Amino acid sequence: MQPMLIVHGGAWSIPESLHEAHINGCTDAIQQVYPALQKGISALDAVEEAVCILEEDPTFDAGRGAFLNSEGEIELDAIICDGKTLNFGAVAAIKNILHPVKAAKLLMNHPEHCFMVGEGAQKFLRTRNFPEVGIEELLTPRELEFYHKIKNDPHFKTRTPFEPNPTGTVGAVARDLQGNLAAATSTGGTPRKLPGRVGDSPVIGAGAFADNRTGAVSATGYGESIMKVLLSKLTCDEFEKKPAMKAAQDAIHILQARVNGLGGVVGINSAGEYAFFHNTEYMAMAYYHEKKKVVALIQSR
Ligand code: GLY
Repeated sequence: MQPMLIVHGGAWSIPESLHEAHINGCTDAIQQVYPALQKGISALDAVEEAVCILEEDPTFDAGRGAFLNSEGEIELDAIICDGKTLNFGAVAAIKNILHPVKAAKLLMNHPEHCFMVGEGAQKFLRTRNFPEVGIEELLTPRELEFYHKIKNDPHFKTRTPFEPNPTGTVGAVARDLQGNLAAATSTGGTPRKLPGRVGDSPVIGAGAFADNRTGAVSATGYGESIMKVLLSKLTCDEFEKKPAMKAAQDAIHILQARVNGLGGVVGINSAGEYAFFHNTEYMAMAYYHEKKKVVALIQSR
């Protein structure tokens, strides 16, 4: 089967000055990972690798470049989902980790657990010698400056960035040579979130979902609304009823109509069609295209 790969770099009001960096970051993820998919790596390994590339890129709100919380710390969330087995691994509110998606993948192989948070997750990772980094590896001058700007702003709400302002969650969805689907999502959450706040990204069915029978999806946007409609699972349910693009569009319309939500999705349905849609001003994304090789765009509403 022809492999497929689609990634996103967040859905929000991306200022024009950052468009190029978003396009380059999403393009890099496709260009580096797609050849490996053609050589036979699994969809699961492909989404892990693609998200790692995005986590390392300071452009995005994931890994390096993540928002700071209200106490000036960085807490990260991630999930990875396997469409063949429905298994997933997820971590939330973890600190000092450059690649939360790798931590989620490690947890996926745990014999009992699939979702761990905070200090417990951190202890688990230490027992597996998972690499930790200093905050200087994650913190960018851009986010430090932004933190100081909003720290005491009485008008700032964690929803504000999705209406207009900085950086987005990242995600990837892949289909491998065997036709298996996988999805992964990683985020630093929302700016000035309370310590311990967890959004949609690591929540199965909300931030990502994968089922070979319907499709695989990664979501981005304002987590408090995305969780309420389980946006990724909702999109996969819509895949069963209609073409992929229409399914993504209808899922976002439900997000908007039911909970006044703001966000976007990228996905692949079980028939091998790409899906993407958002209701924020922009969504940064890229996918592999047979003729053009990479299509990367800042999709506007
Ligand atoms: N979608 C990322 C978050 O709200 O945490």
